[in-house]
Amino acid sequence: MTKDKYKDQFAHATAKAFRQVYPDIFKEVGETEVFAPDVIYSGLAKPKDPGMGRFAFAVFRYAKLLKEKPPEIAAKVAAATTWESGSSIGTGGFLNAKIDPVKQSSGVISEVLTKGAHFGDSDMGKGLTNLVEHSSPNIAKPFGVGHLRSTIVGHSLRRIYQKLGFTVVGINYPGDWGTQFGKMIVAYRKWGDDSTLKGDAVKNLLALYVRYHMEAENDKLLDDESREAFKQLEAGEPEVVKLWETFKTISHAEMERVYDLLGVKFDWVCSESDLNDKMEPAIERMERAGLTSVSQGALVVHLEDEQLPPVLLKKGDGATLYATRDLAGLIYRWEKYPGFNQSLYVVNTAQSDHFKQCLKVIEMLEEAEKIPENERMTGRVKHVDFGWVRFAGKTMSTRGGNTVLLEDVITEASDLARKNISEKNPELATIDATSHIIGVGAVIFSQLCVRRQRDVDFRWEEVLSFEGETGPYLQYTHARLCSLMRRYGHEVTAEIEHALLNGPEEQRVIELLADFPKAILDAGEQYEPYFISAHLLRLAGAFNKVYQRKDADGNIDKIISDNAPLTIARMALVKSVQLVINEGLHLLGLEAPEEM
Ligand code: ARG
Repeated sequence: MTKDKYKDQFAHATAKAFRQVYPDIFKEVGETEVFAPDVIYSGLAKPKDPGMGRFAFAVFRYAKLLKEKPPEIAAKVAAATTWESGSSIGTGGFLNAKIDPVKQSSGVISEVLTKGAHFGDSDMGKGLTNLVEHSSPNIAKPFGVGHLRSTIVGHSLRRIYQKLGFTVVGINYPGDWGTQFGKMIVAYRKWGDDSTLKGDAVKNLLALYVRYHMEAENDKLLDDESREAFKQLEAGEPEVVKLWETFKTISHAEMERVYDLLGVKFDWVCSESDLNDKMEPAIERMERAGLTSVSQGALVVHLEDEQLPPVLLKKGDGATLYATRDLAGLIYRWEKYPGFNQSLYVVNTAQSDHFKQCLKVIEMLEEAEKIPENERMTGRVKHVDFGWVRFAGKTMSTRGGNTVLLEDVITEASDLARKNISEKNPELATIDATSHIIGVGAVIFSQLCVRRQRDVDFRWEEVLSFEGETGPYLQYTHARLCSLMRRYGHEVTAEIEHALLNGPEEQRVIELLADFPKAILDAGEQYEPYFISAHLLRLAGAFNKVYQRKDADGNIDKIISDNAPLTIARMALVKSVQLVINEGLHLLGLEAPEEM
C-alpha cells in the first residue's frame, strides 16, 4: 500500500521525538519499536472523536519498554515533536495528530489549482510498460454484460496507469476460434440463409446459436457435425473460412459501435485466431522442457502437485483449445513487450482456474528452462478477476438467450436520462449530447461503484438516479460546480485567506482533495477503480454539505455572497473540487458535463 502523506510525516516526526526523549533506550534497542517510523505508521488509528485529531497513536504497550506511565510518555513525546503539517498533542495514553487547517488548505488548494488535471500525476511508472487485456468478447455472439464489465474495468485501469506514468497497452482479445465456430457454421447451414447475415445480423446469429443448443440436447449427432465443421475451418476450407469471416465482420462492426458508445479504443487487437501460428512453437517448447505427457491420445500438462486439473493442449484429433491459445498468447505478449512490468487479464472470476493453470504452466516452463529470475514473466502476469452482473437479480447467459444487448442498455439509459433532464432543465440546449453522456456514465459507473470481485446488481432506477451513489449524481455535482463558476464569472485564484475555510465542512472537503492522489495509487496497486469511485462519492457528499449549509437563521449559507474575501476563498474550493471530480470521472471513463 502506498503511504498516506500526513501519516508518514507524523510517523517520522514522532519516531524522532521518541529518540530524543529516550536516547538511552534507543541506543539499546535500535530502530525498532517506537523508534521505527514504520511501527508508528502502522499503529496510527482514527480517533472516534474527530475533535481528537486526524489520527492517534496509543503508547500504552510501550510503558514497560520506556519505564514510564503512558500519560507521561505521551506528554513528553508530544512536546518534543515538531511536525511540518500540524501538531502532536498528548492526551492520556495517546499521541493525537492534529493537522493545521490553514497549512493544509493552502498546500492542497494551491497544488490543485496549479496542477489542474495533472493533480495526482505520478512518475512511478516511468519507463515501465503495463499491458491491460480487457473486453475480449466472443465473435458471433452478442456483446454481453460480462464483457461490458471487463471493458469498463480495464478501460479505467488503463487510464489509472497512464496517470501514474506507465506506458499502457490496451489489448482486446476477441474469441474467434474454437469449437463454438463449428456450431455456428452447422447452425447456419441448417437454419440460416443470406437474410440471417443482413439487418440485425448479430441478433439473428444469436437466435441460431440458441436454437443450436436447444436442438443439440436431443440430437447428439449435432456436436459431431460441428466438430467436423471446425476441423474444416482449421484446415482452411474456403467455403467455411468465408462464412467464418462473415461472422467476424458482422461482430466487429457491432463491437466497434459499442466501443464508440463507451469511448473505448484499443492499442492492439489480437484475436484468438491470430495465435494460430504461435501454438505449435509454444507446444514444442513445452515438450522440450519436458512438461507434457500423452493421456488417452491427448497432449496434456499435469498439475496434480498444484492441486489443479491438467491443462489440455491438444485433443486426440489434434484440435487445440482455449488454454493452448492463452499459453501461446502469454509467450507472444512477453516476446512483443519484453520485460513488461505487468500484464493484466481483466476477465470474469469464472475463469480463475483457467488462469491459475496457464500461469502455473508458464512458471514451470521458465523454471525448467532455467531462465534467470529477472527475465521471467512469472510474477508479472495477473488475472484481474471480477464478479457477475445481474439484471434485476438474474445472471445473464448467452446460451439460454436471456442476454441483454449492450446497445439496448445504453440506449435505454440515455432515454431515461433525457426524461430526467427535461424535467429538471427543459431549456438545456445540449440535451442530446448530455443525455448520452449521462446514460453512458450511469452504465459505466454501475460497474465501478463496488469492488470488482463483488457482483453488480444492475437496477435502472438505481443507476440513473441523480441522488445516491451513481454516475449521474457525480456528473450532476460537477455540472453544479461549473454553474457556480459561470455565475461567479471571475478568475479563480489560490491567493485566498485560508483561515476562511476553517469550518469542519470545508476541512473535510480539503482533506478529501488531499487524499485524491492516494486513492489513485491504491486503485492502481490493487487493480480497483472502486477506490476512485468511492473517493469521488465522498468528495461530492462532503462538498454538498458545504453547499447546503444553513446559517443560524436557517438560511442557506451561500457560496457566492457580498462578502468578497469569503466568496473568493470558497470559489477556490469550488474550482478545486470541480477539477478533482472532473479528473476522477475521466479516470473511471466517464465524461463530466458542464451543464445538465
Ligand atoms: N473470450 C473469452 C470469453 O468470453 C474471454 C477471453 C479472456 N481472455 C483471455 N486471454 N483468455 O469467455
